[in-house]
Amino acid sequence: MMETQASKYIITREDLNVDPIALLTDGLKIGRLPGCELVLNHPTVSRLHAGINAADGRFYVFNFSHSSGTTLNGRVIPVEEAEVLADGDALQIGPFILHAQRQGDALNLRVSLQVAVKIGEVEARDDIHAASTRAVEAKQDARLMSGISDSLSVFWEKRKREAGKMQRLSALRPQAPSRVLGKARFNWTPTRDLVRPWPVSVFVWGVIVVGLLSVVAAVGYTKAFSPAPLSGAHARATAQVAPAIAVRPNANSCTTCHTLKSGMESNCAACHQTEAFAATITKPHVDAGITCVNCHAEHRGVEFSPAADGVQACASCHDDANHQLYRGKPVKTPHGGTFGYPVANGKWVWAGLDQAEWARKPPGVREALGRMEDAAHRQPTAGDAADRQRSAQFHILHLHRVKTVEGLRGNKDGEMSCSSCHQSFAPIDRITPRTTCASCHNGNRAGRFQSVVAGDQPNCVSCHVQHFKDARPWASLFLDGARGQ
Ligand code: HEC
Ligand code: HEC
Ligand code: HEC
Ligand code: HEC
Ligand code: HEC
Ligand code: HEC
Ligand code: HEC
Repeated sequence: MMETQASKYIITREDLNVDPIALLTDGLKIGRLPGCELVLNHPTVSRLHAGINAADGRFYVFNFSHSSGTTLNGRVIPVEEAEVLADGDALQIGPFILHAQRQGDALNLRVSLQVAVKIGEVEARDDIHAASTRAVEAKQDARLMSGISDSLSVFWEKRKREAGKMQRLSALRPQAPSRVLGKARFNWTPTRDLVRPWPVSVFVWGVIVVGLLSVVAAVGYTKAFSPAPLSGAHARATAQVAPAIAVRPNANSCTTCHTLKSGMESNCAACHQTEAFAATITKPHVDAGITCVNCHAEHRGVEFSPAADGVQACASCHDDANHQLYRGKPVKTPHGGTFGYPVANGKWVWAGLDQAEWARKPPGVREALGRMEDAAHRQPTAGDAADRQRSAQFHILHLHRVKTVEGLRGNKDGEMSCSSCHQSFAPIDRITPRTTCASCHNGNRAGRFQSVVAGDQPNCVSCHVQHFKDARPWASLFLDGARGQ
């Protein structure tokens, strides 16, 4: 058995145009892997292609490559076998030629690149003699070789295992095996099969981390996404208004109003749909594309009242200064910005209430209306039919159960009567009624919206009810509930 011994190698890279390097090793690894002492970077070179070591003053070269082989002076070295290297020998590995030259104890390897050679073409023309000598030597060494193979094989088995561990695939590698063989394999064209593989793990971890953070933020800090806190009404976990105006409390939830499936409008309406309240919108507004959020803002803090905001919205939108068009429809300051009046130029211009609105009035009021409309129809002199009907509606709404206010006369029960508005009847007093409207349809009388509408300012929704299906409209504050039922 022979012992491998560390020896000196001098490597001259003619192919790379770098200075010669000298190294001391007990086994020179040759291959494509960066871990090899002699790196031959070419696709036909195996990761660990060949190895050289010294034993008993000679250098032995091993071939490990099954695929493309290693030739010594044109002769292929069988796989896993060793050959003695003599002075002047030419080793070929892929397109590389390694010229071996003894230099004292050291082995000088001169590496050159010969792209156009075929395996087997290289001949040791300079030194045919050396080759024949070597053949003789080889015969002499036949016995020796078997001993060498054992010990050196053990040495290289270890190196190959290490090389296996050294293996790290290049980030750039073909996705599919090359379909062409032979030299054409090296005629590289930049195709898309050479792509840097997507760093999947980085992506996956990124998604996980971002996802977790979002969940934490969404669950723990909803307000982080919210423009500003929700109104108290929508933040509360218990409903306070009776009778109920919403199906359930909102309890600071975001997904009640904001959903992907349905529009905000229908979400609001779906929750605000109870026995006592339905979020109806008047026909002119529906036609003009006005929705809940045009009148009720949100995210203005806990103190913010969406209902009071609705009251204010009327005058700020219905303003000459607002030049916006709503489905092509302009807005302007109505009836001079003051209290509207139902009669203009002797004609009743007020549209009156529709069937659905009357249906919400107590039975007593509806019967009184019927009697009055009958009487109106029996008076052919007092204007046209529509006129008389509107007059009847207006009068009936303001009689029977409306409590009078300070400054206006009333009957013995404190309710409105003919003399609350008319000072004289023959001819009928048409002046005094104009002065009465502001005593009731203002901010003060609205009670709920005192802070929003001033005492001398018109409260728009008191004359133009938006949500007529509301069991507690402002007017109930001065309607006598017992009367007209
Ligand atoms: C009661 C209904 C309602 C609830 C509940 C609600 N929002 Fe909103 N949100 C609105 C309205 C109304 C707007 C204004 C939309 C518009 O102007 O078109 C809005 C707007 C937004 C906007 C856009 C702000 C902008 O400037 O455009 C974000 C973001 C938002 N809400 C997040 C949230 C979050 C987070 C929650 C849960 C804490 C939440 N919302 C709960 C009604 C609601
Ligand atoms: C044209 C303006 C306008 C539109 C559109 C509008 N509202 Fe209103 N809303 C108001 C006004 C003004 C008030 C306060 C006066 C009142 O109670 O009638 C109000 C009050 C409310 C109230 C409180 C009722 C109460 O008794 O306290 C709710 C709830 C409500 N609206 C929901 C909605 C919903 C839901 C929509 C959309 C389907 C909507 N509103 C559309 C103007 C509007
Ligand atoms: C999940 C149900 C729910 C949804 C969705 C919802 N609300 Fe409400 N809303 C409520 C509750 C509950 C109240 C308070 C009622 C109470 O306390 O009894 C309320 C109160 C209101 C009020 C009266 C607040 C005040 O100032 O007195 C208005 C106006 C209103 N909501 C409008 C809207 C609008 C507009 C939307 C859509 C943008 C909407 N709501 C969506 C449940 C909801
Ligand atoms: C965002 C703007 C906007 C808001 C807020 C708004 N309106 Fe309107 N309103 C309109 C538009 C647009 C029309 C349709 C005008 C038309 O048909 O010529 C309209 C129509 C009307 C009409 C019918 C007019 C007619 O000629 O028949 C009345 C009454 C009315 N609004 C009252 C109100 C009241 C009361 C409020 C507050 C509760 C209010 N509006 C809030 C835009 C608004
Ligand atoms: C809330 C105020 C108010 C009350 C109360 C009131 N009226 Fe009128 N009345 C009016 C107004 C407004 C007009 C229209 C005046 C004009 O043409 O400028 C009117 C007009 C009239 C007319 C003229 C015909 C018409 O229809 O235009 C008669 C008649 C009349 N009222 C009778 C009565 C009688 C009778 C009572 C008591 C049962 C009464 N009014 C109670 C406000 C009132
Ligand atoms: C004493 C207080 C009082 C006076 C004065 C008064 N109103 Fe009214 N008005 C009411 C009450 C209360 C209602 C609601 C009646 C109901 O819903 O049954 C009402 C209803 C109305 C409505 C119908 C609102 C709806 O339901 O759509 C209009 C329009 C109206 N008034 C206009 C006027 C005008 C114009 C004047 C002045 C000529 C006037 N009112 C004077 C208290 C008054
Ligand atoms: C005292 C009751 C009363 C009050 C308060 C009132 N209106 Fe009117 N409004 C009427 C009557 C009656 C008419 C019909 C006669 C007319 O067209 O002038 C009318 C007509 C309208 C019209 C349709 C005609 C037009 O000029 O465009 C609009 C819009 C309107 N009002 C909006 C408002 C707004 C916004 C407010 C609050 C700033 C308001 N009203 C306050 C009674 C009132």
